[in-house]
Formats: sequence, C-alpha cells, structure tokens
Amino acid sequence: MADGEASTAAALVTGANKGIGFEIVRQLSEQYPGTVYLTARDEKRGQEATKTLQNEGRKNVQFLRMDVGDKESIEAARDLIKKTHGGLDILINNAGILVTAGGSSYQQTQHASATQDAISETIATNFIGLLDVCRVMFPILRPGARVVNVSSSLGTLRRLKNPELIHRLTSDSLTVEELEKIMADYVKNGTDEKLGYPTGGYGPYEMSKIGVTALSRVQQRDFDKDQSRPDIVVNACTPGYVATDINNHSGPRTVQQGADTPVYLALLKGNNIPKGQYLVDREVLDWVKSEGELSTV
Ligand SMILES: NC(=O)c1ccc[n+]([C@@H]2O[C@H](COP(=O)([O-])OP(=O)(O)OC[C@H]3O[C@@H](n4cnc5c(N)ncnc54)[C@H](OP(=O)(O)O)[C@@H]3O)[C@@H](O)[C@H]2O)c1
Repeated sequence: MADGEASTAAALVTGANKGIGFEIVRQLSEQYPGTVYLTARDEKRGQEATKTLQNEGRKNVQFLRMDVGDKESIEAARDLIKKTHGGLDILINNAGILVTAGGSSYQQTQHASATQDAISETIATNFIGLLDVCRVMFPILRPGARVVNVSSSLGTLRRLKNPELIHRLTSDSLTVEELEKIMADYVKNGTDEKLGYPTGGYGPYEMSKIGVTALSRVQQRDFDKDQSRPDIVVNACTPGYVATDINNHSGPRTVQQGADTPVYLALLKGNNIPKGQYLVDREVLDWVKSEGELSTV
C-alpha cells in the first residue's frame, strides 16, 4: 500500500465472529489503518461481533457476510471490496471446523475412527472453502498484499504413513490442481486405513490442515513466477493450542496469543521476510522435515 492510500486499504478475515478470528480482527484494527472486514457465515453473529468491536472504538471494523462454503457469498464480498476499495491488501483465511467423532474430549476423538461425513465436511470447509476464497479474492489482491492461511500443528506430515503421498505433497513441482486431486482422493478413500492417511477421529482435520500448509507453499511459488503480481506474500501458521469453542476451551493459550502470529504475518514488511512458510510463534518451522507437535487442534 503506497502512502496516501490508507483510506482505500482493506483487510478481510474469514470466520471472525468468535474465537481466534474475532481477536485477529481486534488486533488488526489497532495496528492497521485500513478497513478490516470481519466476515462470518451467520449474519446475526457477525453483526453482533462487529458491533462489539465498534463499541470499543474500532470504527474501521466493518461486517460482511461470507460463508466459505457458499461461492456466491464470497463473490459478493469480493465485488463490494473491489467497488469500495479498488482491491484487497490483506486476506486472513481463518475459518475452520473440527468435526469430533466419538465424543468431545481429546482422548475420545483420538481413539475414534474418522467417518465419511466427517471427512467430506471437514475437507469441504477447511480446504475447499479456503481454496475457493483464494480463487475469488486473489485476482483483486494488490501488489504488496499479504495472505495468511491458518493451519494447525496437527497438520504435520508425520501423521501420513504413505511415503509416495508425502513425496507428492512436498514436491517443488506440486500444483494447486494436483493438490486438489490429492484431497479429492482422500475424500473418496479416506476411511481406508491401508492407504496411510491420518487415522483416528482427528484424521480429517489433520489431512485438511496438511492440505492448507501444502497449498500455501504452492500459492507462494505461483505468485513468485508471476511478474505481474509483485510482492504478494502467502504464509501458513498455527495459532497454537488456544482455548476456543473448537476444542471446548481446553487449550492453554489465550486468543490474544493465538492471534499474534496471524496478525504479525498480515503486517509483514521488508525484503527479508518469510514467504510460503509455516510459522509457529512468529518463527519459521521446517514443515517438510519437522515432526511438529501433536497436542493441539
Ligand atoms: N483453537 C486452537 O487451538 C487452534 C489450533 C490450531 C488451529 N486452529 C485454527 O484456527 C482457526 C480458528 O479456530 P478457533 O479456534 O477460533 O475456532 P472457533 O472458535 O470454533 O471459530 C471458528 C470460526 O470459523 C467459522 N466458520 C466455520 N465454518 C465456516 C464457514 N463455512 N464459513 C465461514 N466461517 C466458518 C465459525 O463460525 P460459526 O460461529 O458460524 O460456527 C467461527 O467463526 C481454525 O482454522 C482452526 O482450525 C485453532
């Protein structure tokens, strides 16, 4: 964003009516001079969350309804942003679900089996929904834009027991289309334990976040190759194990801590910055080599 363009600058956060997304909007609205769009799939919950932040004096927070599973709502949000601001400067893909099979506790879920419904639903929101948002919003990203994909430390490659799949996911020649095919194959065959997909009740969530981190690497490579889109930076990150509705508030971290790295990545400036990386607590972690932690969502 060039000097003097502050009034046109715009940021958008998905799934922001509560939890980490809500706190991302709060922190971003303090540190960012542009309009911060709090988006939510439910009009009422989104309006209420926006009002809460506006009542705190954050007048640059605005509401837009957007369901990452509803393309029309994503396109309508894009059209409004394009018309009002001319483009988008920050996109934070935060919306996500965890479908708990077999019970709500960590132990119960870990020892349950993934159901077909959980696989389809989780991939539809966490991977396909995120990708759809990118496909619709990327054409209006301005030079210098920042994209943050909220992944998870459960999306570690060590949960995959299929060396060929690991090889494909980490290949420097992986494309978005090939990744989509990998995820579609998982939706079709994910309950077959012989194929080496993540097992247990967290399996679908883990696979969805493996997809999100792999996607972020590919997206950065694609922007790097495109001379017409200079200085667009994509990164993935985990907020850590944060007490929110997604884990029945079992995480030890606060939403303030969880929002810190996504906001840091949204505001990255300079040349020597992470690009196409996976970060934990503002630090780059080698996602390809790392074993990751397994105790968070
Ligand atoms: N909490 C953790 O420990 C942790 C750890 C690692 C990663 N994460 C990731 O952090 C992100 C935020 O999670 P959270 O902990 O803040 O969970 P949360 O409190 O359950 O919030 C999830 C948000 O996503 C929204 N959402 C779900 N499906 C959506 C859809 N189709 N369209 C638009 N919004 C949708 C929810 O909206 P509704 O209110 O309408 O359901 C809610 O606003 C997720 O991607 C999660 O996987 C969380």
